[in-house]
Amino acid sequence: MSTINRELGKVSKPSKQDPLAFEMSFLEVKAVEKKPTSRKKKDTAAQSAPIVTRDVEAPAVKTVAPNNTLNDLTGAEWKFSTKSVINKPYPVNMQHKLRSQHGGQKPPQLCADLIQIFTKKGQKVLDPFGGVGGTLLGASLIGRRATGVELDPRWIEIYKEVTTLENLEEQEFLQGDSKDVLLKIEPKSYDFILTDVPYWNIDKLAKTRSKTAKASKLATFNDSEDQTKDQWLDEMDQVLTAAHKCLKDGKYAAVFIGDMYRESRYHMLSASLADRLQATGNWTLKANLIWYDVSKMLHVYGYPAAFVPSMIHQNILILKKS
Ligand SMILES: C[S@@+](CC[C@H](N)C(=O)[O-])C[C@H]1O[C@@H](n2cnc3c(N)ncnc32)[C@H](O)[C@@H]1O
Repeated sequence: MSTINRELGKVSKPSKQDPLAFEMSFLEVKAVEKKPTSRKKKDTAAQSAPIVTRDVEAPAVKTVAPNNTLNDLTGAEWKFSTKSVINKPYPVNMQHKLRSQHGGQKPPQLCADLIQIFTKKGQKVLDPFGGVGGTLLGASLIGRRATGVELDPRWIEIYKEVTTLENLEEQEFLQGDSKDVLLKIEPKSYDFILTDVPYWNIDKLAKTRSKTAKASKLATFNDSEDQTKDQWLDEMDQVLTAAHKCLKDGKYAAVFIGDMYRESRYHMLSASLADRLQATGNWTLKANLIWYDVSKMLHVYGYPAAFVPSMIHQNILILKKS
């Protein structure tokens, strides 16, 4: 993917060493050095379809409204950032193979794009379910400070290895159970929470029966015993209530949550989690973004008699501290 070299008006490759160039990359805009056609351009979702080069003129100077209290985006960037579907293809990079030992890792650039919508430069991001540090890597890419918490020291070690190999600033990564660790963090000291909840471990037994589920990498980071949906929701609620105390008033949280198809039915975990979190009175649900993960492989499920979805999306709940 290309971004715009502001000085020369030419196309250049974004680099993690060049946060300014990276900042523009989420727009998926490719500069074209030709006269605009008379055809009127409309701001449609299709404009940001992957791979297609769009004839969109880049703003010559990045002008952030002086009364923008949320982020450092220009009006045009803001408009694109509010799309309810994220269909941008994220590169397989930043030691992907090493990070994929985890199985639930998120693209650091996707995390950077989200952080960029909800913070200004230098602000602080918290991830109570850190994994191998997608959030922390994303924060480093765009000059934000971040703290992660992770139960399993293996994942923290991998994150540290990635930062060394990628020559990136190492963010604070605390080992332990977020339910305890977050209580020691100064209240109201973070500007944004970006996290990715552990999957509901519905059926270890079913997993051992199913070849497909056995092959699933999700099992690698979730060693907990079988849980009912309520037990899982209770645990997510406890951690996010503790994280809520660390967040400044009126700030946002973005929570990755995949729905599930198990035991012949669809489990809309995103809706269940949103309902549970709002019931506490701590959060107001502001959006449910859909991340279309273009890297997901399709498999044949249910053929030739039943419809079983191929899950190629995840939800990102956008919640505001009430
Ligand atoms: C879905 S993964 C996060 C992946 C992460 N977004 C990344 O890019 O690597 C969830 C992580 O939360 C961790 N975890 C689960 N319960 C936890 C708890 N109570 N406190 C801290 N970490 C926890 C799991 O070990 C797992 O690595």
